[in-house]
Amino acid sequence: MFHSPQLQAWCVTGYDDIAAILRNDDDFSARDHKPRPLTDLPPDVQEMLSTWSGESVSLGEMDPPEHTRVRSVINAGFTPRALKAAEADIRAAAAQLLEPLTCVSEFDLITEFALPYALTVILRFLGIPDAHHQACLRWSDHKVQLMVGRDHTPEQLREYATGLRAFGEFARELTAQRLSAPRADLISTMLYESSHGHKLTPDEVAALIPTLIITGHTTLAQALAIIVRSQLRSPGGWPTLVDGTVPISDLVEESLRLDCPVVGMYRTTVREVAVAGSVLPAGSRVLLLYGAGNHDPDRYPGPDRCLPGRWPAPPHLAFGRGTHYCVGASLARTELRIALEELAARFPTLSATPEATPLYRPTFPLRALTALRVRP
Ligand code: HEM
Repeated sequence: MFHSPQLQAWCVTGYDDIAAILRNDDDFSARDHKPRPLTDLPPDVQEMLSTWSGESVSLGEMDPPEHTRVRSVINAGFTPRALKAAEADIRAAAAQLLEPLTCVSEFDLITEFALPYALTVILRFLGIPDAHHQACLRWSDHKVQLMVGRDHTPEQLREYATGLRAFGEFARELTAQRLSAPRADLISTMLYESSHGHKLTPDEVAALIPTLIITGHTTLAQALAIIVRSQLRSPGGWPTLVDGTVPISDLVEESLRLDCPVVGMYRTTVREVAVAGSVLPAGSRVLLLYGAGNHDPDRYPGPDRCLPGRWPAPPHLAFGRGTHYCVGASLARTELRIALEELAARFPTLSATPEATPLYRPTFPLRALTALRVRP
């Protein structure tokens, strides 16, 4: 563990220390879990953001028992049965996007497949028509830029905040529509599900929709890009995926361990507590570096080597752990498996174009490659 003045946080890097913090909801709160904006927001932008409503129910920031109430209702939408029912739709989304790419000589895997695929899947899972795709993509980017972007002009910040307000309004309208006419989708489940006596109000459901859209596609697209890139770069990597020598599920887990899209998340100490051999006072911010924990040599010997199916090994931290364990982890695993199967079936000789240096969006701790050009 070390202190970063720039991040104003204690950075925790060891697997066991991170896992112990994630088990301990009594001493650590998630209330300030997100990165703080890097840019000072003008007062009018702050005012706009305080009323956009998309964060009035911020699942990631809640602590039990409030978190338990909201999470148990959302969980009801992600049962194995719901995921099984969505599989055909997910495969159709992949096929629809990949088919036109079989006729081109080169394409960008991120903008032409990974991002639209991940967004289409989460929108359909929520029950949102594809026609809203572009708007949701734009609003999601506004949110990411406001959260972790830098060097924006006040005009850009205003444009992003205006976008978020439109996102909030859009979510409220959808919720109202499902209230009057429920369907078999996640929005309806969240509105009508009552789990262990817990229910969500329509305002709460509306507030959760942007979060699910944003978290549901940005991380997934990144994970897919990482897996494909690492297979294309390792000699003989792609053919082993195509011929099934390496099981896709093992490859997905090992790739997420090696290079996880969410590099870390914050927690705050609620009382004086020992962490990694030091005593931190109440109110200390700790950054749990999931990416570092996933490379802890005490847990993963040869941590930088890609060994799909490595055993014995503890579960990686790419989806977090404990109370805030990623609600979409099973959906994400299904999406990644199907995307890789569909890519392998259509592009058995896929190769990467020579790249100078991989380009990443300058955002931390949400890593994102911005381009990955490939040749069918
Ligand atoms: C490979 C793709 C994904 C990765 C790497 C990922 C990663 C994570 C991580 C690390 C956390 C825990 C954050 C913390 O500890 O504070 C998390 C939470 C969360 N994820 Fe994911 N995620 C992925 C896909 C998804 C999908 C598809 C959805 C949408 C359904 C989703 C929705 C969420 C939500 C709502 C939370 C907050 C859960 C809570 O606080 O109870 N994620 N994710």
